[in-house]
Amino acid sequence: MKHGFALTEAQLELQDDVIECCTPGHRMGRGFALLAQDLWFDPGLPKGYLQMLDDFEKIGRYDHSMSVLELGSLFAYDPETALGRTQDFLARVYGVPFVWPSTNGTSILNILALMSATQAGDKVLLQRDSHVSVYSAIVHQGLEPVYLKPNYAKDLGLPLGVTPEDLAAALDQHPDLRAVFLTYPNYYGIATDLTACAELLRRRGVPLIVDSAHGAHYRFHPDLPQAAEESGAALVTQSQHKTCSSLSQGSLALFNDRSLVEPFYEWANLGGFVSTSFSFIILQSLVLGVMQLERQGRALLQNALEATLWARQEIHRIPGLKTFGSEAARPGFKQLDPLRITVDVSGLGWSGFEVYERLSSEFNIYPELATFQNVLLMFTLVDDLRGVRRVVQALRQIASEAPGPFQQPRLEPPPLPPLRVLPRAAMQHRPRRNLPLREAIGQVSAETISAYPPGSAILVGGEEITPEVVEFLQAVKRSGGTLKGASSRNFETLQVLG
Ligand SMILES: Cc1ncc(COP(=O)(O)O)c(C=O)c1O
Repeated sequence: MKHGFALTEAQLELQDDVIECCTPGHRMGRGFALLAQDLWFDPGLPKGYLQMLDDFEKIGRYDHSMSVLELGSLFAYDPETALGRTQDFLARVYGVPFVWPSTNGTSILNILALMSATQAGDKVLLQRDSHVSVYSAIVHQGLEPVYLKPNYAKDLGLPLGVTPEDLAAALDQHPDLRAVFLTYPNYYGIATDLTACAELLRRRGVPLIVDSAHGAHYRFHPDLPQAAEESGAALVTQSQHKTCSSLSQGSLALFNDRSLVEPFYEWANLGGFVSTSFSFIILQSLVLGVMQLERQGRALLQNALEATLWARQEIHRIPGLKTFGSEAARPGFKQLDPLRITVDVSGLGWSGFEVYERLSSEFNIYPELATFQNVLLMFTLVDDLRGVRRVVQALRQIASEAPGPFQQPRLEPPPLPPLRVLPRAAMQHRPRRNLPLREAIGQVSAETISAYPPGSAILVGGEEITPEVVEFLQAVKRSGGTLKGASSRNFETLQVLG
């Protein structure tokens, strides 16, 4: 518990008899209270409006700026400040030498992490289905990317993790790699053999950075996959807000390799990715969330795991629906986070998108995402049987009205197109030309387009536009999927380097 209360105590001391002559301007929430006084008798207010202002007034009490020096700063580690002591607490709970908390999500952590481990022009290995922030780091740092295409499980309609064998082959082919960036687990809770990957890289002296955005809770229950920070990776990023109780954008960078701390702070200070008005509310929520994990994590996770075990079995019994568990393990899929339930709805005659739409509009149930074939339900330590039961009942009702099986498109991502120009150069290149799709084939793309599904970049700026890529993107669009980053709304043209 040492230092676990440091930020909270400092915050509470600031509650009484304090006059802030610094930012933020709402003056510890009083700005919202003034608006509430003015609106009190306004008959046109939406229901709940005054309650919301009251809530904001309360939350505002914990919102301060770096001008309150004893709270500390994200731009320099100082063990004498509340924030410094909090970092020590977080490091102890996660069993790593150093932690940097983010109030801008894991997105900036991925950028800072990869930039800290590399120099301009370095060759780095990353998964093709990496989060967009990893691609941002490639552009910012002018890196040369080499991609690992995730293995695709046709039967599940899902991507898997990188296998140690794939990694070894890539290392043999590219002995000049300066860093490797892996995602663990993937969105569907599928976790590869990360320890074997880390060991391989340790032997070759290549630093491993792991995006474990969805794995912040793993170390707190033995039935969850192995925690990324225990694998031997140099640096792990994770979104506390995704699977634990932090407010949105509360994330942690866990350093096993201390030598990365100094360049990380340098980029945090000068890179421009971290707001100089970082949020003490989010930081406070991060500490509370980690405190909860430490004190209640195992018991709450046990509860949630039992509820999802029940749900998985029930859903599997519903005609037309299928789920999978750890029995589906294979290379690239060593363990599964049981709190993720991927429901294959293809037996219903509806797409995952249609089932998502019905769940949200008719039952007020919001899944994490949908693909043609699947709907992904994500549960956390806060969930229990009550909510889970409602989801199962809703799925039962939807399934009972289903038209019957029909073949959903099963689109396998196309081969990786050849890299012709580094992503940074492509991003900066002008002029560009807008060409109809057929004419764009063979040209160098100025656009980076990710397709949902599968939720991965299909074409990256600087790559050659191949017929397979165009066909795949057209098929995704036709089937109701989304093309993120495409300049043409209906995907009729592509921007190429002019
Ligand atoms: C694998 C992965 N990495 C990173 C991120 C970004 O995390 P954040 O939302 O905390 O910025 C996401 C967000 O969805 C993600 O899925």
